[in-house]
Amino acid sequence: MISDKAALFAPAKVNLTLHVTGQRDDGYHLLDSLVVFADLGDRISLGPADEISLDVTGPFARGVPTDARNSVWQAVEMLGERRAITLEKNLPNGAGIGGGSADAAAILRHFGRVEPAADLGADVPVCLLSRAQRMRGIGGKLDEVTALPPFWAVLVNPGITVATPDVFKALENRGNPPMPDAIPAFETAGALFDWLAHMRNDLQSPACKVAPVIAQVLTALSGRSPVVRMSGSGATCFALFQNHTEAVTVAKDIQEQKPDWWAVACRLS
Ligand code: C5P
Repeated sequence: MISDKAALFAPAKVNLTLHVTGQRDDGYHLLDSLVVFADLGDRISLGPADEISLDVTGPFARGVPTDARNSVWQAVEMLGERRAITLEKNLPNGAGIGGGSADAAAILRHFGRVEPAADLGADVPVCLLSRAQRMRGIGGKLDEVTALPPFWAVLVNPGITVATPDVFKALENRGNPPMPDAIPAFETAGALFDWLAHMRNDLQSPACKVAPVIAQVLTALSGRSPVVRMSGSGATCFALFQNHTEAVTVAKDIQEQKPDWWAVACRLS
């Protein structure tokens, strides 16, 4: 663990919904998504340096680039800064929960310079605030939503990386209906779950075609929660719960059944 108390926190993002509503001439897709953040994420510490350097540690460090291909490196460079960066990777990469985007956003937040956010990736703007937001356009049109009631999730990743462009390519219908105009103010987690049950992630079925193991993850979670869905372009899926204990029990159970998968309980807000 990074001991530096000033370490930056880059929380995982979860798309509770992800409706694909159109496509622009440049190929980017128009989205309508309710995005929330977890109480788990990557940690970044920055030390003084004459040159940018990057050391990646933590359970998901393997395979993460330690050079200018890494989004934290790009963010520091874009701001014209020089730092010795340590990135503790607690989130799986290329997993639909914003790892690289959250990391880049944490850097921009730290320096109080948010203008390059969209240039670093479509998910970076939403990660800047790290609070529940409705995300539209190609990701840059953001509206805060009324604070959601407390609820918990189990996140499950089967240990594979899914390339976002491949999932978008496999999408059959690009003109799906958006969410309702107004997202209600939910009094209880139960009311939120009832509403979410009528929403979708339009990338879920194309992602299952690209990586059939995602369907296995959804099956493993189904019947345990009223809302089981994939986040982003996958492969991470989530199940929602009204209390922490239930989420911890399900996470343990899945982890025992599938030791190669990543299954964790977390709070979402
Ligand atoms: O911006 P980011 O690097 O996260 O996007 C990865 C890829 O996902 C893009 O190159 C594009 O193919 C696809 N994408 C899209 N529409 C969006 C966001 C991403 O088609 N709104």
